[in-house]
Formats: sequence, C-alpha cells, structure tokens
Amino acid sequence: MITLKSENEIKRMHEAGKLLASCHKEISKIIEPGITTFEIDNFVEKYLKERGATPEQKGYQGYQYATCASVNDEICHGFPRKTPLKDGDIVTVDMVVNLNGALADSAWTYAVGNISDKTKHLLEVTWNALYKGIEKACAGNRLGDIGYAIQSYAESEGFSVVREFVGHGIGPSIHEEPQVPHFGYPGKGLILKAGMVITIEPMINEGVWHSRMDSNGWTARTADGRLSAQYEHTVAITKDGPLILTEQ
Ligand code: MF3
Ligand code: CO
Repeated sequence: MITLKSENEIKRMHEAGKLLASCHKEISKIIEPGITTFEIDNFVEKYLKERGATPEQKGYQGYQYATCASVNDEICHGFPRKTPLKDGDIVTVDMVVNLNGALADSAWTYAVGNISDKTKHLLEVTWNALYKGIEKACAGNRLGDIGYAIQSYAESEGFSVVREFVGHGIGPSIHEEPQVPHFGYPGKGLILKAGMVITIEPMINEGVWHSRMDSNGWTARTADGRLSAQYEHTVAITKDGPLILTEQ
C-alpha cells in the first residue's frame, strides 16, 4: 500500500533530513586516508545521539551498525570495519536518521584523499544522475520517467545502473511501497502523486551492472570487481514539484 504523507509529516521528515545532511557534511570533514569505516560509524551514532536522533538501520532486520559503508567495488550494505581507508578509495556512507519518529534516508560517496580523474567522472555522473531523477519526481509523472532519466544519462556516459537494488517509499518505516527503479521506460509505471515520499538512490557502476552477494548475506559488490558509486536523497512529491528532504 502506498501512503500519502501530510504536510506536517513531510515537515517532520524534513527536520530528520536536515540533521542527516549536516551529519554528511561533518563526515566529509573527517574522511581522509587512515580513518576506518568503523570510526565513521561510531562518529555518526554519537553525532545523532547528541542531537536527540537515532540511527534507524541499527537493529533493522538484524543489521548491526548505524551506517552502511561500502568501499570501492562494494555496491551497498557494506559493514563498517576496522581496516583503514586508503588514498584513492571511494566509500559510500548510507544512513537512515530517526528524529522523533520521523525518518530520512541519504547516502553519499566520498573520495578518500586523491582519486583518479576516471573515478571523479564516476562520482560526478552518479551525482548528476540522482538530480536528473529528482527532476522527474513530479505529480502526474510516472516512476518510469525517473528511471529512464537516470539510466539513459548514466549509460550515455559509459556506466551501468544496478538493477537488484532500488529506491523505495519511506515513512514511519524505512522501506515502504513503491519500489523506485533507477532504470525503465518513460511513460511507464506508477503515476506519482503529491504526498508520496520516496528515496532516489542510483547505484552506478564503472563496468557491468551485475552484482554478487557476499557470504555475510548483506553486502553486494560488483560482479567484475570494478567501482560502484551512489548518491541518495529522500524526496517528497509536492504540488509545487519535488522537495528534497535530505539537504540542509
Ligand atoms: N538506506 C538503505 C537502503 O535503502 C538502508 C538499508 S537498511 C540496512 O537500502 F539495514 F540495510 F542498513
Ligand atoms: Co534507501
């Protein structure tokens, strides 16, 4: 079932989203070669707790950490670990913030130290792909319009779009209907309505779109071992167009 959110609910999710955005901004200041994703995870948990919020992912279906931290060829749901990040790595930090029962979900891929021009291009295209999708998140458009905008752009830049993981509705729980694919056909799929709140979170791969699941049952990585990047926003569809809830 797809639920429409009231203006007040959207306002509360926006507060959670602003806090999440400020947390990402702090992470960008501390990321450098030598730091571990375990340290980043602890930083996030403390940062949120000090501001009256909690990391919704911790305990979600048995997940043990405040964040997902996916390094290089890891696509999503990487476990924070005590291995130092290296110069030239990329790491996607994904988190869901619960502020007084309202949720917001946002992921960023960070460059660790100096990354190659090729890797910079991947990050830029992934960022632009997210915003091309958001532009289409308007009442009256269809889900396929979002997916097509992302896929056609990413593929025109020589990259591929992950199929097995998609965006989602979000409200009192992390994953609600509908599923939001980052690929598809214009004019196809569910019609978007004002009051829907969804995540758009394209995972863009340097090589093939196929993934492999790690033996931990959570972490997906690229089948060819090449890089994967992701940016994610929580977006409310309003009568005035898309409203990004996870920006400051
Ligand atoms: N933002 C993540 C997603 O939508 C949250 C995953 S929940 C977790 O996939 F438990 F896997 F962390
Ligand atoms: Co999400």
